[in-house]
Amino acid sequence: MKKIIVTATALVATAAFALTGCSAERGGDTAGSGEEAEAGFAADSSIGVALPDKTSENWVLAGKLFTDGLEEAGFKADVQYAPASNTVAEQQNQIQAMVTNGAKVIIIGAKDGKQLATQVQAAKDAGAYVIAYDRLIENTEAVDYYVAFDNFKVGELQGQALLDGLAERAGHEAPYNIELFSGSPDDANSKVFFDGAMSVLQDKIDDGTLNVVSGQTEIAQTATEGWLPENAQNRMDTLLTSSYSGDTVVDGVLSPNDTLARAIITSVQQAGKPVPVVTGQDSEVESVKSIMEGIQYSTINKDTTLLVEQAIKMVGQLQKGDDVDVNDTESYDNGAKIVDSYLLDPIIVTKENAAEAYANVPSLLEIVESYQ
Ligand code: BGC
Repeated sequence: MKKIIVTATALVATAAFALTGCSAERGGDTAGSGEEAEAGFAADSSIGVALPDKTSENWVLAGKLFTDGLEEAGFKADVQYAPASNTVAEQQNQIQAMVTNGAKVIIIGAKDGKQLATQVQAAKDAGAYVIAYDRLIENTEAVDYYVAFDNFKVGELQGQALLDGLAERAGHEAPYNIELFSGSPDDANSKVFFDGAMSVLQDKIDDGTLNVVSGQTEIAQTATEGWLPENAQNRMDTLLTSSYSGDTVVDGVLSPNDTLARAIITSVQQAGKPVPVVTGQDSEVESVKSIMEGIQYSTINKDTTLLVEQAIKMVGQLQKGDDVDVNDTESYDNGAKIVDSYLLDPIIVTKENAAEAYANVPSLLEIVESYQ
């Protein structure tokens, strides 16, 4: 009987998807993962939010928005950051404590998405829901939903911005000398960003439009451990010494985010070379200023307010026992299952479209307008 109801619900969900996007049936996906979560929970329940260390402004902002937004929605917010040292173990402990304290939903921005299987399984066994926030949690069935900006699209936009920036600013025809950077290997997003960018750049490398002078095109060679700016700066210093001696100029650098973009630019400036076209992501204040000053070429607007709002909306739907909004049920295979996802649309930002791109982000719009 239960099976029939589930099937009927799935059919309705499929029909709804055809019309308006889709909804995942809540609670139906916990097969093999211990006790089933109950339908709905008390409206004043505790909600755990485990965030990684503060490697970029978006994480800092997310913590505040989660605290305020969850409290406003009537929940008890238990928001924790993993400290900068011993981060993985500390985040594991924090999640375990949220489970013990009876959180009904645990929202996780993973420090290392491959090392949380035990903790999220404990959450499921206790009847809680798990939402992966911004970064996927891998190799476990015990993650219910993923909410993020479309990471592959972020990479595509970065790759295209690099090409556009080179055409605009390099001051000469192709071939262009470029270098590639990617994010931390323990963050599932890093590969998706890089793959997205390479889906645009690889053909141009193959046909000789782009010349990766160092020859370092494998993700392992381009990685930036811990997303730490000093690691990107050191690698750029080394690349400049080894591959850009004398008058050789680097025309462009694919940078996966703003923190690293600024470190790369600093390295090139310290070497006394002209600033290349450098991409970024996150719309950090210093990078938006740099873009308006004509230094960094691009960033991506991933409005943290919207992402946190979406995550809190999911919590509300779970609390009521409603269907949870998802709009992607095929892209994010975490190694154990395809995780139902809600993906938001990232927006590319250059000096040219900054005012338009930040029309709904007053604090950044103010910065842009101060340069106009
Ligand atoms: C986020 C990026 C951020 C990076 C470093 C990634 O998982 O998606 O927005 O720049 O982590 O904090």
